[in-house]
Amino acid sequence: MTNADFERLVDTSDEWITTRTGIKERRIAKNGMTTSDMAVKACKNAMEMAGCSHDEIEALITGTVTPDYKLPSNSCVIQEKMGLPQAVGFDIAAACTGFVSGLSIAQAFVESGKYRKILVVGVEKLSSFTNYEDRSTCVLFGDAAGAAVVEPCETGAGVISTFLRSDGNYRPLLWSEIGGCKYPYVPGEDPSGRDKILMNGSDLFKVAVREMGNAAVKVIEDAGLTSSDIALFIPHQANIRIIKAMAKRLKMDMSKVVHNIDRYGNTSSASIPLALDEANRAGRIKPGDHIVMVAFGGGLIWGSALLKW
Ligand SMILES: CC(C)(COP(=O)(O)OP(=O)(O)OC[C@H]1O[C@@H](n2cnc3c(N)ncnc32)[C@H](O)[C@@H]1OP(=O)(O)O)[C@@H](O)C(=O)NCCC(=O)NCCS
Repeated sequence: MTNADFERLVDTSDEWITTRTGIKERRIAKNGMTTSDMAVKACKNAMEMAGCSHDEIEALITGTVTPDYKLPSNSCVIQEKMGLPQAVGFDIAAACTGFVSGLSIAQAFVESGKYRKILVVGVEKLSSFTNYEDRSTCVLFGDAAGAAVVEPCETGAGVISTFLRSDGNYRPLLWSEIGGCKYPYVPGEDPSGRDKILMNGSDLFKVAVREMGNAAVKVIEDAGLTSSDIALFIPHQANIRIIKAMAKRLKMDMSKVVHNIDRYGNTSSASIPLALDEANRAGRIKPGDHIVMVAFGGGLIWGSALLKW
């Protein structure tokens, strides 16, 4: 969907969306395509790239807040579709921080020796969850999936440090009120959009700039590095102004920052693996490069990871 499509849908303009968010287009999954369908494609691509066979996967961790069903977890649905009977699958409901949370858990499993090969996927079909009458949110979101295979590597490489933090006091800044056990969806009753994404954008913006910056600094310092050691910065793609503010704080030139929000919008837990994959396929990552990923989402929950490629 382009900004022109939204001009026909709500009272907005290409000019407002571009200058306030940096978004030009987003991808919307076709009718009938589910979150698990998108995840399966991403997982297969990741396994092909990693040269990893189905029977080697021991765990599957999915970051999503838009699962196919309330029960079971999306990981179990993906597991069935991919044929991974030997693996354990479970979901993380960490909104836009889903992939970084999954990566952090996978790192702990691999380092402890519990599992050797783990699929981590960030996937969202946000279009099924977006109120297309609310101009303040509908222009922001898109659908996507991104996955990685996490496995042991040589000492001193791979996932060097991770950081996760949440603060439930911020729940009203980004949430969906109706549809859980507190306020169940009542058929025939107008939920007035409260079953979709509800957001206080300007308050969220301030917390995002502050905490994403802090999270980036934390993993860089924990690894004993400085921002000048970082070859590539991969932030969650929520708003190009947030991304630029973080780059400024880290004194990082924008040429080192991966951003594709213009083409995908905010794809929640998929945004970081999507950007990582694009940067990798474009040849922007060399062996030995230090990469910082920073995520931030509804909860609020935020976090970061520092990798040596
Ligand atoms: C959502 C966001 C783009 C809005 O930008 P903003 O500059 O904060 O804009 P505001 O919400 O203050 O609204 C400014 C005005 O634009 C209007 N507006 C909102 N959406 C609009 C749209 N799509 N088109 C035109 N005008 C719009 C508002 O109604 C408001 O009008 P008013 O001043 O007459 O009341 C921005 O706040 C943001 O990106 N927030 C952070 C999101 C985030 O961090 N997400 C991370 C977790 S996923």
